[in-house]
Amino acid sequence: MKKLFPLLALAAAAITFTTGCGKKADPGTGTTDADGKKKLTVGFSQIGAESAWRTANTQSIKDEAAKRSINLVFSDAQQKQENQIKALRSFVAQGVDVIAFSPVVETGWEPVLQEIKQAGIPVILSDRAVDVSDPSLFATFIGADFIEEGKKAGNWLAEKTGGKATIVELSGTPGAAPALNRKKGFEQAIADKPDMKIIKSQSGDFTRAKGKEVMEAFLRSPEAKSITALYAHNDDMALGAIQAIEEAGLQPGKDILIVSVDGVKAAFEAMKAGKLNCTVECNPLIGGQVMDLAEKLAAKQEVPRRVFSQEGIFDQSKAEAELPNRKY
Ligand code: AHR
Repeated sequence: MKKLFPLLALAAAAITFTTGCGKKADPGTGTTDADGKKKLTVGFSQIGAESAWRTANTQSIKDEAAKRSINLVFSDAQQKQENQIKALRSFVAQGVDVIAFSPVVETGWEPVLQEIKQAGIPVILSDRAVDVSDPSLFATFIGADFIEEGKKAGNWLAEKTGGKATIVELSGTPGAAPALNRKKGFEQAIADKPDMKIIKSQSGDFTRAKGKEVMEAFLRSPEAKSITALYAHNDDMALGAIQAIEEAGLQPGKDILIVSVDGVKAAFEAMKAGKLNCTVECNPLIGGQVMDLAEKLAAKQEVPRRVFSQEGIFDQSKAEAELPNRKY
């Protein structure tokens, strides 16, 4: 039986259901099917819409829920952990069957996850992991292996440059699992290459605008002329950096080699145009796997603790052939 917290419940429900004009939406809408049977209700807290990857991920979650007639209570946290925590509390208040979320950062989740556990609601970590000391605070984690992605990027660059590169790094949101682990994996891959050095590393927050801004700063720095390669933790930042490189009168993909992560359509277009050299795939289309897990957890079935998404790596030589197949 799920325990609800009455006061908390009221407060949190107000956050979710109150519209701008103070009217309450109907929390019951969509919770039963045409035959009056109770639908599975999944609360999903998304990070935001920082990248093309994230937009595709959101769409995949929504499409899959609609396909299966799952009542999805979706909340966009606009990049803020506090908003995600509010959303999670409101899911508890609403008594959803399963909670899934993509944590914006790794730490700081223990108290809210304890509350969810008390309420008896199973938790799916979608795309990103959390750093908690009690493993029983979530049921399963579905997503990519970010360390492996970083390694793939580092190995590709090592091979392409013969182990010689002066690298600048655009990292993701500080404290986010993909930022920490893509950095770690890349550094592991180049650890035995003394002539591959990361000379600057700064967060571009996974966005195109910030990626451009930080790359502009790299190109204004005294070391600018020595830069031969860019490693971006996602395609959006790489695409912003490409603009900055062009505006600085240099040729992206030639004067500065660029490797990034995600594999979004725009990255394939940039590879086709010779401006991006390689993208390591990170698959956002995990809605089906998330909803499979939600259905199993709601039915009290066992699920694996860790589910991986399948990923490849693509360089310019494969870009043209792959472009028509890209779904995001
Ligand atoms: O967590 C996955 C990462 O988050 C993607 O690589 C990035 O584009 C997104 O914003």
